[in-house]
Amino acid sequence: MEKSEHNDTVTILVDDIPVTVPAGISVAAAVLGHHHAGETYTNPVDGSPRAPYCLMGVCFECMMEINGEPNIQSCLVTVEEGMIVKRQVATAGAK
Ligand code: FES
Repeated sequence: MEKSEHNDTVTILVDDIPVTVPAGISVAAAVLGHHHAGETYTNPVDGSPRAPYCLMGVCFECMMEINGEPNIQSCLVTVEEGMIVKRQVATAGAK
């Protein structure tokens, strides 16, 4: 079988967990697609619940750290092989 020059998937790290997703989707979609029951998205400042909502750059509920840069609107960023994503959940002490 001949190997395709084009990969249909990419693997990214989401909170240190490798996740393989379709190439060309947004980081927000990739993270939502691999959301596990019991996991929560929280505002890093006050700990209130949040999650990507509009998926078009309006609501700012999808802020994530991408490749070490915090507060990126993840719905506006396309996944790339080896990308490192952190959901920026609330830290200890947030209410
Ligand atoms: S999901 Fe609304 S700005 Fe990204």
